[in-house]
Amino acid sequence: MTIYLNGQYLPIAEAKISVLDRGFIFGDGVYEVIPVYSRRPFRLEEHLRRLQHSLDGIRLANPHSNAEWVAIVDGLVARNAGEDLYLYLHITRGAARRDHAFPNPPVAPTVFLMSNPLPAPPAELLASGIACITAPDNRWLRCDIKSIALLPNVLLRQMAVDAGCAETILIRPESMTGGEFMTEGAASNIFAVKNGTLLAPPKDNLMLPGITYDVVLELAAANGIPCEVRRVTKEEIFAADELLLTSSTKEVLAITQLDGKPVGNGKPGAMFARLHKLYQDFKRDVMRA
Ligand code: PDD
Repeated sequence: MTIYLNGQYLPIAEAKISVLDRGFIFGDGVYEVIPVYSRRPFRLEEHLRRLQHSLDGIRLANPHSNAEWVAIVDGLVARNAGEDLYLYLHITRGAARRDHAFPNPPVAPTVFLMSNPLPAPPAELLASGIACITAPDNRWLRCDIKSIALLPNVLLRQMAVDAGCAETILIRPESMTGGEFMTEGAASNIFAVKNGTLLAPPKDNLMLPGITYDVVLELAAANGIPCEVRRVTKEEIFAADELLLTSSTKEVLAITQLDGKPVGNGKPGAMFARLHKLYQDFKRDVMRA
């Protein structure tokens, strides 16, 4: 596998960074996950826009223009085999003497990209849907930043794995009403479906604004699927007809079990079937364009 590190394309075994890198020491950095279909990056402009938002959120200057990013990404794809890939793009605040405060003057950031083959979600998973658990969302209040400091997400996802499930759906307390609402998954966005309406949590500071989430909402709007973007309560997810999970690597999946109970009739529903097909058609059209 060939990776990109600080201006060079290298075999992964030759790629080295300092032990003082602030990504390693503090988790001080941000990242993106970019799918590549038929060797073409999907929604790259949107991923670069979200990257800029994350960089602004941690007060780190963008080391590259968009044209430079496109060239780096194209160079990585050209050097790695496979029709469909997913790229990880990591930027940290660089290597400096250990101090919580930013290095002053700033040091060169570390820029790392790698590519992995992207398998299509297995047919069995599409047919059966996935099982999820719920857990309190104990993360910070800037979940809109795609931070590499992922320890809460790691621990929350592991809770699902320990329970034999695929994902953990995160629940925040509502301080004003004493109620509880759903934010997202440990590494995904979550939608609920009730009486034919798609319910989507708002893109605020409590969730990552998913690129796949946006595609699903655009497809819903373009195809006359009723949609409400608003807080979705914990009661609503347990009473939902369907629950859907989205991410760049999982696309759209049906959640058919939650905390051991069936979601709706326990099978992937009509909204899943519709959005999954719309998503596949959209992907194909974009790649042909
Ligand atoms: N995760 N929310 C969180 C916390 C995520 O980590 C992700 C993606 C999403 C979905 O965003 P998108 O549709 O842009 O992939 C939502 C990626 C896949 C990861 O960290 O590997």
